[in-house]
Amino acid sequence: MQGIVVDNAGGDFHLVDTLEEPTPGRNQILVKSLVTAINPVEGFMQGTGQLVTAWPIVLGCDASGTVVEVGEGVTKFKIGDAVFGCTTLGTPGHSTFQEYFLMDEDLTFKKPGGVTTEQAATIGVGLLTAALGVIIGANVELKAKESNSQSPWLIVLGAAGGVGQFAVQLGKLCGYRVLGSSSPSNTEVVKAAGAEAVFDYKLPLDEQLATIQQVTNGNFTRVFDASAMGTETGIDAVTQVADQRAPERYFSTTNDWAPIDPREGVAIHHVELGQIGRSGSEKAEKINKDIVTMIPNLEDYLGAGLLRPLEYVQVGDIGVGEVLKALEAFKNHKSGKKLVVRLAEN
Ligand SMILES: NC(=O)c1ccc[n+]([C@@H]2O[C@H](COP(=O)([O-])OP(=O)(O)OC[C@H]3O[C@@H](n4cnc5c(N)ncnc54)[C@H](OP(=O)(O)O)[C@@H]3O)[C@@H](O)[C@H]2O)c1
Repeated sequence: MQGIVVDNAGGDFHLVDTLEEPTPGRNQILVKSLVTAINPVEGFMQGTGQLVTAWPIVLGCDASGTVVEVGEGVTKFKIGDAVFGCTTLGTPGHSTFQEYFLMDEDLTFKKPGGVTTEQAATIGVGLLTAALGVIIGANVELKAKESNSQSPWLIVLGAAGGVGQFAVQLGKLCGYRVLGSSSPSNTEVVKAAGAEAVFDYKLPLDEQLATIQQVTNGNFTRVFDASAMGTETGIDAVTQVADQRAPERYFSTTNDWAPIDPREGVAIHHVELGQIGRSGSEKAEKINKDIVTMIPNLEDYLGAGLLRPLEYVQVGDIGVGEVLKALEAFKNHKSGKKLVVRLAEN
């Protein structure tokens, strides 16, 4: 079968037609790759080799396709079902930049009827990362709730990104008023995701903190940095501006490589979606259990239209080789819309 291969860390992405089609094991499904989105992690893995378990490797993790085979013990899916989600990263047989790939049944979403195959490819990585950041890291209850003028705020840094837009949606869904940060050109994207207010993260830090104070009046205890670039703003907001009488405040971040010094009264959490589908460590077991627990609720909210896929830009024509064009386009891609590519017609 065809796929886009990288031979070693730093090697280029290239098309081959010699890959073996994987066979689903217990509780696994084999999925025909129809559409995939491009994420920052692909360039990161190709460049550094981190999270790659064997070379050569096919990358790609934002899945959207059709079940073509089910392994022993699978009950949630049958052949022909439309599915999406985030695959196990850097593991042969599991990646989306190839014609067929494996997914674990309980880590896979069933596609709702109202969501197209392209839209589904915009959801997996962004929504699961945001859920790990907001629900698990910032300890927000995953339950639909109306917000009002007294509701606490959730602050989302990098709110226009693929992760950030889902974090905004989740915060609003769960009854928070959301204050997001972005470039001024993305203010409307963040508002469309559900934020009540937006500030410019390029302003000097003291101006950002003053804006956070002015908008929230200190009525918040939770900050999620979706961008991985906002540690300073986030930690200062939660230690200086947040409600200091609260028993616990929360700072969670997608930056899983830079340690943060402990702060009294602040629970600091580094999101690690890269552990999806992995086992053998307490950390991986916990993350996967969290994801498995959240997926049915997230599926319900997507089905009800309370969580929505992202806007996207489609690159190229149809075919596995088109992924190369999408990877190239991603280098100059501005956030706000997800970049997707179609590998097969149906
Ligand atoms: N740890 C994990 O498990 C995990 C999982 C997924 C992603 N990530 C990482 O999370 C980050 C976001 O991923 P993504 O897919 O959302 O990327 P993305 O779509 O490219 O969005 C990144 C966003 O970061 C914003 N940004 C840049 N510098 C910022 C700063 N100093 N302060 C606040 N915001 C800033 C940008 O805002 P503007 O465009 O408005 O300027 C952009 O919207 C990436 O670094 C990615 O590698 C980590």
